[in-house]
Amino acid sequence: MTRAIVLRRQGGPEVLAEEDHDPGRPGPGEIRARVTAAGVNFHDVYVRSGLYRTLPLPGVPGIEAAGVVEAVGEGVAGWAPGDRLAWVTRGYGGYAQAAVIPAALALRLPEGVSDVEAAALTLKGLTARMLVKDAWPLEAGQVALVHAGAGGVGQILVRWARALGAEVIATVGSPAKAEVARACGADHVVLYREEDFVARVREITGGRGVDVAYDSVGKDTFEGSLDCLARLGRLVNFGQSSGAVAPLEVSRLFKGSNSLARPSVFAYLADPWRAEAMAADLFAAIEAGVARTRVERELPLAEAAEAHRLLESRTLAGAVVLRP
Ligand SMILES: NC(=O)c1ccc[n+]([C@@H]2O[C@H](COP(=O)([O-])OP(=O)(O)OC[C@H]3O[C@@H](n4cnc5c(N)ncnc54)[C@H](OP(=O)(O)O)[C@@H]3O)[C@@H](O)[C@H]2O)c1
Repeated sequence: MTRAIVLRRQGGPEVLAEEDHDPGRPGPGEIRARVTAAGVNFHDVYVRSGLYRTLPLPGVPGIEAAGVVEAVGEGVAGWAPGDRLAWVTRGYGGYAQAAVIPAALALRLPEGVSDVEAAALTLKGLTARMLVKDAWPLEAGQVALVHAGAGGVGQILVRWARALGAEVIATVGSPAKAEVARACGADHVVLYREEDFVARVREITGGRGVDVAYDSVGKDTFEGSLDCLARLGRLVNFGQSSGAVAPLEVSRLFKGSNSLARPSVFAYLADPWRAEAMAADLFAAIEAGVARTRVERELPLAEAAEAHRLLESRTLAGAVVLRP
């Protein structure tokens, strides 16, 4: 028997309680892995709170983790006990000491990527990779606005955008986070709780606006992000940390010939060939030091509730990881 966080009802962080749990043996095409580090993401907060009803209850939450193969099911080729791996799955189960996952989702960890890095960076890094390469293929010389630039995804995004040669304007919620965003290479940092970020973006860009606005904050920033766009620019809304975005009048996009994308990393990961290419890019970027985020806290599995409180508190400047 192993231990896991079992969600029995949706609610506040306190519903995340540790229990005995047996993930079972791997069936055909499956891998059983010992989880050494589990990522904590906003997606998990939504699963816990009930905004997303994608985990049948009772169930073990946790959308990404890293670990070591313990056993492989029938028909699984290329994986053996002892191999290191990471995965992202909407079948969940990462907040546990052991998990059974489809072998097709297993990503082989290179030597240079630690288990904690993988847990902190796999979902967030694949998201950043989708944003800079697919949702708006960022080019050198373009100007990108990155909201929550000191957040888990935000730090990777700022670094990656800079590595591609873009000029980056990051918004952050506090002076301490401003330092973090600057350390990631942001050219300009705006304290959007104190300053009007639209006015600051106009000022920084000499009135032109940005080529792309990467917006994970949603409700509080969406309208302003639209107002920051240069002619032909794109708003990429990829999250809603402050709440759901209000409906949009499509004609708003006409004047600047702007476009809107609302990408989900899972849609991109659904094709195995694309998932492999994205993971290869990400792990290369991690090893090259381009994809990095601060790991603010490593907590034992039993403190999953505290991990969620921290993530929702808006105080973290980086990732939190569970160590089962
Ligand atoms: N579309 C996709 O496929 C995809 C995949 C992964 C993640 N995401 C999204 O990406 C976003 C970032 O995820 P993350 O795990 O890296 O989280 P995070 O950015 O580390 O944390 C969220 C940040 O949002 C900012 N924020 C602004 N208003 C907030 C509010 N009312 N409550 C809480 N935070 C607020 C805070 O930064 P400041 O204090 O600096 O404002 C906070 O630190 C999330 O919205 C997540 O859902 C989307």
